[in-house]
Amino acid sequence: MCSRVIMAKQSQATWGGRFSAAPAELMLTFSESVSFDARLAPFDIAGSKGHSAMLAHVGILTAKERDEIHAGLDAIGAEIAAGRFKWNRQLEDVHMNIEQALTKRVPAAAKLHTARSRNDQVATDMRLFFKHACADLDVRLAGAQRAILQVAERDGDVLIPGYTHLQRAQPVALAHHLCAYLEMLQRDRDRFAVVADHANWCPLGSGAIAGTTLPIDREFTARQLGFVDAKGRPRVTRNSMDTVADRDLFVEFATACALAGTHFSRIAEDLIIWMSSEFGYIDLPDTFCTGSSLMPQKKNPDSCELLRGKSARLQGNLQTLLTLTKGLPLTYNRDLQEDKPPVFDSFDQTALCADVLAGTIGGMTLRRERCAAAVADPALLATDLADYLVERGVPFREAHHAVGAVVKLAEVRKLPIDQLPTEEVQALHDGFGPDWAEVFDLSRAMARRRGTGMPGPAQVKMQLKHWRKRLE
Ligand code: ARG
Repeated sequence: MCSRVIMAKQSQATWGGRFSAAPAELMLTFSESVSFDARLAPFDIAGSKGHSAMLAHVGILTAKERDEIHAGLDAIGAEIAAGRFKWNRQLEDVHMNIEQALTKRVPAAAKLHTARSRNDQVATDMRLFFKHACADLDVRLAGAQRAILQVAERDGDVLIPGYTHLQRAQPVALAHHLCAYLEMLQRDRDRFAVVADHANWCPLGSGAIAGTTLPIDREFTARQLGFVDAKGRPRVTRNSMDTVADRDLFVEFATACALAGTHFSRIAEDLIIWMSSEFGYIDLPDTFCTGSSLMPQKKNPDSCELLRGKSARLQGNLQTLLTLTKGLPLTYNRDLQEDKPPVFDSFDQTALCADVLAGTIGGMTLRRERCAAAVADPALLATDLADYLVERGVPFREAHHAVGAVVKLAEVRKLPIDQLPTEEVQALHDGFGPDWAEVFDLSRAMARRRGTGMPGPAQVKMQLKHWRKRLE
C-alpha cells in the first residue's frame, strides 16, 4: 500500500521551511479543502483587504503596498467571479490559493500574512459568510411567507376542520391555519437574525492562538469589515484562544436551518394530507408535482415529500457539527476543516427549500366544495355545545360529560349530532334548552371566536392585515 504513496513535487507550502519532504500525493488529496472552501473567496478577499488596510494604518505596510495588494485582490476576485481563476488543490485551501496567486503578481503580498494565521483568517471568512447567509435566508423565508399570505388572503373565507391527533377537532379558517405557518417561518427569520448578530464579532488579530507581538489595531480591522454594533462601535472578539477554537456559530446556524427544515416538513406534510383523495382539500401545481412511470392516474406531491426528506439531511448536518466539536481540545485542530461542508449544505438546502415551498404553496388551489363538506360535520362543534351549557351555569366537567352522552346517542341513532330530537337531548341533561341546536350554525360559531389569536373572521382579518403590513 505504502509503496503507492508518491511524494508530490510542488512549490507549495507556505509552511515549507522546516520540512525536508513535501506532502504525499495521497495526503494532498486527503487534506485539501479548496474543493469546498473556494466559495469563501469573496469573504477571504474582503478579509485580506481589511487586514492589509489595518497593516498600512499601523505602518507595517506603506500606502503604496496596500494599494497594490488591494488592486491585486480585486483582480483575483474578478477572475474568480468570472470562473477564470485556476484553483490548485496542491495549495490546499482558498486562503493559500489566493495568497499565492497574489504574491506572484504583487511582491508586497509577501507581507500580507503579517500578524495573521489561517486560524483567525478562516474564522473571519466564516463569520462574514454567516452574516451573508443569514441575510440571504431571511429574504427567501420572507418570500415563502409572502406566497403563503397570498393564498390566505385569496381564500380567507374558506373553513376547514382543524385537527389534533389527525382527528377532526374544531373548525378553523384555512387562513388561520396558513397564518400558523407565517408564525413558524417568522421565528425562523428571528433565529437567523440572532445568528447573524452572534456572527458579528471580528476574529482577526487572534493569530494562530495567542495574537501577535506586532502593534496591530484590531478595532480598525473590525470597522473595515463591518464588525460593528448599531452605533458603529467595533466588535472585536475578547479571547484569542476561544476565537480560533469556537465553532458555536456553525452549530447555531445549522440549528436554525434544521429547525426551519422541520417547519418546512410539517407544512409539507399538511399539504400532502390535504392533497390526498381522502381529504381532497387542495390541489398542488403541476409544476411542483410529478407523475408515476407506471400508474397513469398518479399525481404525486414530490416537492412536499422532498421537503420532508431534506429536513432529515439538515438535522444530520447539525449532528455532524456537534459530533465534530465534542471533546475537541482547545484550540484549532485540523478536524475543524470538516466544519464547512455541513454548513454549506445546510445553507444551500435551506435556501432551496424556502424557494420550493414558496412555489408549491403559491400555486396551490382550493377545492372549496370538499372543504365545505368536511367542515359541515356538526361534531366539530361539540365543544361549543359544552360551552352552551357552561353559559347556562353548568360546570364544564359536567357539561363535557353531558355532551359526550349526546355524541354517543348520535352514534347509536346513526344521526348527525344536530339532527337529534330535542326531547332526547333534553333527557340527557336539563341544561339543554329548546335552542340547543342553534350552536351548530357554523358562521355564528366562528364569529364567537373573537379573542386574540383565535380563528374567527374578525381575528383572521386582523392577522392578515398584520402580516400584509409586516411583509410589505
Ligand atoms: N483549511 C483550513 C480549514 O478550513 C484552514 C485553516 C488551517 N489552519 C491550520 N493551522 N492548518 O480549517
